[in-house]
Amino acid sequence: MVWRLYGGVFCPFYRHKTGSIRAWNAFAVLFGFLCASTSSLYFRPTFALWSYGGQACSFIDMRIDILTLFPKMFEGPFTESILRRAQEEKVIDIRIHDLRKFSIGKYKQVDDKPYGGGAGMVMMAEPIVQLIDEITVTPVETPYHGVSSSVVHKPHRIYLSPRGERLTQPKVEQISANHEWLLLLCGHYEGVDQRVIDGWIDEEISIGDYVLTGGELPAMVLVDAVARHIPGVLGKDESAAEESFSVKLDRKKEYPLYTRPEVFRDMKVPDVLLSGHHKEIEKWKKAQLR
Ligand code: ADE
Repeated sequence: MVWRLYGGVFCPFYRHKTGSIRAWNAFAVLFGFLCASTSSLYFRPTFALWSYGGQACSFIDMRIDILTLFPKMFEGPFTESILRRAQEEKVIDIRIHDLRKFSIGKYKQVDDKPYGGGAGMVMMAEPIVQLIDEITVTPVETPYHGVSSSVVHKPHRIYLSPRGERLTQPKVEQISANHEWLLLLCGHYEGVDQRVIDGWIDEEISIGDYVLTGGELPAMVLVDAVARHIPGVLGKDESAAEESFSVKLDRKKEYPLYTRPEVFRDMKVPDVLLSGHHKEIEKWKKAQLR
């Protein structure tokens, strides 16, 4: 739980909200709006606070901005199944940004030859940093005393790269639990100018010790794995609590699963699973973990 300002009122803002807490937060925002709509001197400072609170206010559990040279690659994975439902229900907000938006010159350049020679091309810093700035620097209008200013809301910025830290289940859980806003930078060609990583990236993540053609597939893997841990993303019958690599299963791989029919092409479901003895079933499941 964190405390946030809504309409000048500190409200408990739950990272994983329930319906009633959503309603309470909605009430606080409405209160802020009512304060803002009055011109009394008492309420005007409240409006200044509210406008800031409004920036921080979100009913979305996680926002994810993805920076890519190939936005269309994300159409399939994010518009189907669980991730589509999570977006429709406003549990997660995924925004895809085209890195060519701030490309340079007549030829819309986004990459150039590496200094010092070597094969391939390197993604240039300017188009990337301009896009990151556009996403993260928000001008805030505060009518109080006619002052306006800029507020930088900082997402956790991840660069997908084979040089990064290996993505594991504990790492996925840590990202999901600690961040409400992620910015994922997908590299291409030989990689991005190191100055982008030094100045605008919080961590580099790799999905495995092999090299892919770009960071798009790794970004999809990361989003899928992280989103599953946000309450409300998985349905009632799905759970991230008891599955392979979970704490509950001692970070081991899950036991085998069976469903009807009891016999399939001469292969029978293990007797213990049909026995109805819960203790024995639990023992069997534990023994199957690897
Ligand atoms: N980009 C290319 N290969 C990658 C990998 N294995 N992990 C993350 N990003 C990548």
